[in-house]
Amino acid sequence: MFKLSEEGVAFVKKEMARYEDKRSAIIPALFRAQSENNGWVSPEAITYLSDLMELPEPWINEVFTFYTMFNKQPVGKYHVQVCCNVSCAMNGGRELADHLSQTFKIKNDEISADGRYTVSRVECLGACDKAPMMQVNDDYHEGLTNEKAVEILRGLK
Ligand code: FES
Repeated sequence: MFKLSEEGVAFVKKEMARYEDKRSAIIPALFRAQSENNGWVSPEAITYLSDLMELPEPWINEVFTFYTMFNKQPVGKYHVQVCCNVSCAMNGGRELADHLSQTFKIKNDEISADGRYTVSRVECLGACDKAPMMQVNDDYHEGLTNEKAVEILRGLK
């Protein structure tokens, strides 16, 4: 049963009070739920937010399903999103994603056996001039080589 922490509830209520229309707080509320649920938003979390925010569940769900930054299934401790859009693809982004999948023995969006990594191929993350790049949780890593990316990921605590 999903439940936000006390701090999480206070955060969502503060966000709701910030805006004229409390629907504007759905995105920050989803981010909070995701961060308190090991990196993904479960159906129970949607129901919980609907009750907490006193908003119809479909209103939460439509925001949740529209944005790709909310994970629809569990992810590893480190969610590695490798950009495979034009600039990154031309500079080895797709090969980088394949290399990471092979290194950690996972297919796209799967969780590695040790629970540490999920590698996802994603569209442009807005760092096209520093291609290829990957986002790991909230951090960007740019101008990567296959070796550098693996070194960064293995070095994460
Ligand atoms: S194409 Fe990869 S960040 Fe834009």
